[in-house]
Amino acid sequence: MSDTPGNQPEHGPDEDKAHTLQEAREDVLERSGAGAVGDYSDYLLVADEVKAGYIPEVNILNGCTLTLREGEVVGIIGPNGAGKSTLIKTIFGLLAVREGSIVLRGESIVNRSAHELVSSGVGYVPQTQNVFPTLTVEENLQMGVFLRPKTFTARFDVVAELFPLLAERRKQKAGALSGGERQMVAMGRALMMEPSVLLLDEPTAGLSPIFQDEVFQRVKQINATGVSVIMVEQNARRCLQICDRGYVLDQGRNAYTGSGRDLLDDPNVVELYLGTLAKAG
Ligand SMILES: Nc1ncnc2c1ncn2[C@@H]1O[C@H](COP(=O)(O)OP(=O)(O)OP(=O)(O)O)[C@@H](O)[C@H]1O
Ligand SMILES: [Mg+2]
Repeated sequence: MSDTPGNQPEHGPDEDKAHTLQEAREDVLERSGAGAVGDYSDYLLVADEVKAGYIPEVNILNGCTLTLREGEVVGIIGPNGAGKSTLIKTIFGLLAVREGSIVLRGESIVNRSAHELVSSGVGYVPQTQNVFPTLTVEENLQMGVFLRPKTFTARFDVVAELFPLLAERRKQKAGALSGGERQMVAMGRALMMEPSVLLLDEPTAGLSPIFQDEVFQRVKQINATGVSVIMVEQNARRCLQICDRGYVLDQGRNAYTGSGRDLLDDPNVVELYLGTLAKAG
């Protein structure tokens, strides 16, 4: 091997590896495809081959498919910019569906407004700006139930049982709370309407490991009360440990789908999406 600079690779081994990882991911996407969802009546919620985007003619979701059965926790993981938040927002009616279908309990909810979805039992906790910082904890929870104000007291008691901190801090401004506490307010607010489906977008992002763990435990508790959950997570391993099934999204498409355990045990998923290089790429 020559040691003249001209014969050296243009980039180092890590970059090479990152490059091959990118190519390997492209191959996976070529081959994977989500496959058609059979009978919609088997599922509480189905997003079937959905295309959506922000700018006309530019799709961010390129035919994404996701199903949720009654009682499940389903996790969505994938690299930054994969379209995870976009998928959740599209399900929640914040983005127009350009192609494909979204069905809740056998009924199309394509292009229904977020208000209508809340009334149909769908709760959504956005990735960012998910509390009103200048309002108190109690006022934030009141906002959650503004469609049914009379139920406030009864629902507050239920939600406070799950998150005792919300009762302790009820008169404090949400903006004065820590990130983890604010996340509890955001989840509590979504639960005020007694949803049957809860959409959580990165509920543990930016939290200390202890708070992250608490959030995962709360999600399991919420699920145990009969709420089916779709959660997007940056803490992919932990998410796959607690979810019933997981989806790996990449470039607005399904890369891998399986039980949380199967995905954790799949060397390709580990190499392409859970390794440190994969994260950096
Ligand atoms: N409001 C917007 N307008 C235009 N493009 C957007 C908008 N929001 C997101 N995008 C683009 O859509 C793509 C997918 O973004 P999305 O937020 O869904 O990714 P994500 O998988 O949630 O990523 P992250 O892990 O960083 O949260 C990205 O290329 C992003 O730049
Ligand atoms: Mg996101």
